[in-house]
Amino acid sequence: MSTMRAWQAMHYGNERDSLRLNTVEKPSPAAKEVCIKVHAASLNPIDYKLLHGDLKKVMPMPFPITMGFDAAGVVYSVGSSVTRFKLGDKVYVRASRESLRAFAEYTVQPEAFVAMMPSACNFEESASFPLVALTTVQGFVDRAHLKSGDSILIHAGSGGLGSFAIQYARQMGLTVHTTTSSKNADWVQKLGAEKVFCYDLVDIGTINNQYDAVFDTLGGKETLQAFVQIKSGGVVISVAGPPDIEMRNKFASNPVVRFVMWMMSRKVYAAAKTKNARYFRYLTESSGEQLSQITLLVEQGKIKPVIDRVFPFEQGIEAFEYLVAGRAKGKVIIRIAD
Ligand SMILES: NC(=O)c1ccc[n+]([C@@H]2O[C@H](COP(=O)([O-])OP(=O)(O)OC[C@H]3O[C@@H](n4cnc5c(N)ncnc54)[C@H](OP(=O)(O)O)[C@@H]3O)[C@@H](O)[C@H]2O)c1
Repeated sequence: MSTMRAWQAMHYGNERDSLRLNTVEKPSPAAKEVCIKVHAASLNPIDYKLLHGDLKKVMPMPFPITMGFDAAGVVYSVGSSVTRFKLGDKVYVRASRESLRAFAEYTVQPEAFVAMMPSACNFEESASFPLVALTTVQGFVDRAHLKSGDSILIHAGSGGLGSFAIQYARQMGLTVHTTTSSKNADWVQKLGAEKVFCYDLVDIGTINNQYDAVFDTLGGKETLQAFVQIKSGGVVISVAGPPDIEMRNKFASNPVVRFVMWMMSRKVYAAAKTKNARYFRYLTESSGEQLSQITLLVEQGKIKPVIDRVFPFEQGIEAFEYLVAGRAKGKVIIRIAD
C-alpha cells in the first residue's frame, strides 16, 4: 500500500486532543476526480469550528477525517473522465464540504472544484485564496448583486477573509470602509480601505445609515448592529450571524433544529424589516469556475495574497492554535512540500 501523511481529526475536541498527523493510504482519483500533490494549504476558522463541534448539527463529521479546505499543488494523477487538467498542472482548490482532505500530502478532489492557480503566485500564495475568495464572490456578487459605486462596510478587514474582501470590493468599484484594531489600521488602508474604524479607539456603534451593504464577519451583536449601519433598502451579507431562510431550509435536519434556527434568526429579520433590508447568511460552496475568475484577477494584479504566517507541515496544531487566537493578519498557511 502506498501511503502519505495527513492531519486528521480523531474526534470533536481541541487541537491538541484531537488532531493527529497520521500515515494513511494515498488516495486514487475516481473518474471525475483529480489527485493533487499538495504543496501548501491554508487554514480558515471553519477548520477549528468543525473540530470543536460548533457545526455538528448542520455538518456532522465522520471520524477520523482528514481536515482542510484550501490547497495548492501539482496534478499527480487524473480520473478517466477528467478533461480540464493534465499531470503537472499547478492548481488550487477549495475542497468539498463533505470530504475536506486538504491538509495532506495528496488530496483527491472533484475536477469541478479545481482551477489553475495564478501564474504569478507560488503555492503558499495560491493556497491563501480559495475559501475566502469564493465566500466573497458568493456574497457580494451572487447574492447581494453589489455594483460599482455602492458603499460597503467590511468588518474585520485585517482577517483572512476581510483582507481579501477589501481588495475584491475595490476592484468591483465599491467604496470600502472597514473595522479592525489600531495596530492594523495602516496596512489595511493600503489594501484599499478608504476609511478604517479602529474598534479600540472609536465606538463603531455610532455609525448609522451610511452603507449600501455591510459584510458581517463578526456575528453576535454586530449582526444586529449592521442593520443600523446600512441605509434603508441596504443589504447585510453575513458569514457569522444567524441562519437566513435559505440556509435554514437547506441545513435544518429536523423540526427541532428548524425551530432553534428560526428562534436564532427572529431578531435579525425584525431588524431587516425596520430598514426594508435584505439579509443573507450562507455557507460557501466549492467552484472551480469561480476560482478561475479569481485566477484572472490575481494575474491582472487586482488582488494580492495577504499572508500572516507560514507553518511547517509538522506544526499543524500550532497553526490551528494561532488561528484560534483570533489575531491573524491575513491568512495562515501550512507548507506541505517544497
Ligand atoms: N461562508 C461562511 O460561512 C464563512 C466563510 C469564511 C469565513 N467565515 C467566518 O468569517 C469570520 C472571519 O473569518 P477570517 O478568516 O477573517 O478570520 P480571522 O482571520 O481569524 O480573523 C482575525 C481578524 O479579525 C479581526 N477582529 C477580531 N475581532 C474584531 C472586531 N471586533 N472588530 C474588527 N476586527 C476584529 C482581528 O483583528 P485584531 O487583531 O486587530 O482584533 C484579526 O485580524 C469567521 O468567523 C469565519 O468562520 C464564514
